[in-house]
Amino acid sequence: MHGMKRSRMRAPRTMQDDASRRRFLQFLAASSLLLTPGLPPSLFAQDDELIASPDLALNVFDFEAVARRRLPPAHFGYIATGVDDDVTLRANRKGFGRYQLRVRRLIDVRAIDMSVALFGTIWDSPIVIAPVGSQKAFHPDGEIATARAARSRKHLQILSTLASTGVEEVIAARGEPVWYQLYPTDQWPVTRALVKRAETAGCAVLVLTVDLQGGSNRETQTRQQRRDSRQCSACHPTGPLGSSLDNINALVARKPMFTGLEVSEVRSLQPLGMNWDFVKRLRDATTMKIILKGIVARDDAALAVKHGVDGVIVSNHGGRGEESGRGTIESLAEAVEGAAGRIPVLVDGGFRRGTDIFKALALGARAVCIGRPYLWGLAAFGQPGVEAVLAILRRELTTIMRQAGTVKLSEISRQVVVDRGR
Ligand code: GLV
Repeated sequence: MHGMKRSRMRAPRTMQDDASRRRFLQFLAASSLLLTPGLPPSLFAQDDELIASPDLALNVFDFEAVARRRLPPAHFGYIATGVDDDVTLRANRKGFGRYQLRVRRLIDVRAIDMSVALFGTIWDSPIVIAPVGSQKAFHPDGEIATARAARSRKHLQILSTLASTGVEEVIAARGEPVWYQLYPTDQWPVTRALVKRAETAGCAVLVLTVDLQGGSNRETQTRQQRRDSRQCSACHPTGPLGSSLDNINALVARKPMFTGLEVSEVRSLQPLGMNWDFVKRLRDATTMKIILKGIVARDDAALAVKHGVDGVIVSNHGGRGEESGRGTIESLAEAVEGAAGRIPVLVDGGFRRGTDIFKALALGARAVCIGRPYLWGLAAFGQPGVEAVLAILRRELTTIMRQAGTVKLSEISRQVVVDRGR
């Protein structure tokens, strides 16, 4: 019996079989595109259904599809990449599924107020523009377009040390000071000069990135670079950021924040020896508030309080630091416990929906930073694209605040989330 069955199954392969096998493989390749990190796994999310203008977007993912089409593979790869197998990148999205919402009914939800206080300044929204370098790689207006969108939509913007525009110009476009993200470098005089420049420009808050000390193996980015037929080195030094960084001084030499500084000795953006003494040194070197970006553990949040740090951002660098496999939303609750209400805790990593933001606020985040979605908007349509992304997230947050019966951020408490575990 067995033998008979097997021989029937083992019919000789025909050309027709080969064609259907090919079609099946093509189908698999197309479906894996639909499962690309960031894209919703919708049956109808077709890469060829691109929106022609920002107002047609149903959600932030619509901008990702346009950005992927518009950008050279290497530049899209820079946005899209995680590290190693991109497990942590996906975990940032998957983590939200662990939390469900427990909403309340019959509450007057006409007046929604999502304003938030951060170091004495009141912001209209808890949605913050995360620092991302080299924005002219995504749109010719780069950080200026982002700053104009932040201005028109009244959002807090954090500017990267590796920005393609200097802090003064960005502040002029934003109409008020941005926060400044610091890659400290291994040369204190350079670090000190960056800090002084940000302080002089009017930045009130310095955001020290602490999560790329050991390197960052960006295979997706490297693969995309290889698919790109253009000569990258004609425009800029190549090599994944955070890896061996042999060419780091060539990289920083082109960045406006380093103009006029002696960078020939700079060998890394985050020295291996950076520790809590370094934080103290920075503390003593500036009057700006200092917050640490890249905290994921309770003990480090507690140490931040102990060392006089003013706030933390729970972050795994968008899945671009270590391949921990842990989404930032899952690290948030313990960091909030570590901070013990003494300093504000912000968070970033995988935020794409108003409900994602709502869950983080419920778990104790004061504000939420977004990265890739606004870059998709920028790459797709420039300033109006960034504005549309911000508006969509705000609209979605408003919807869930109404649905949950929480009209202001202080009402979004731990009671509205159920942790169903991993
Ligand atoms: C820079 O911060 C990067 O992640 O590429």
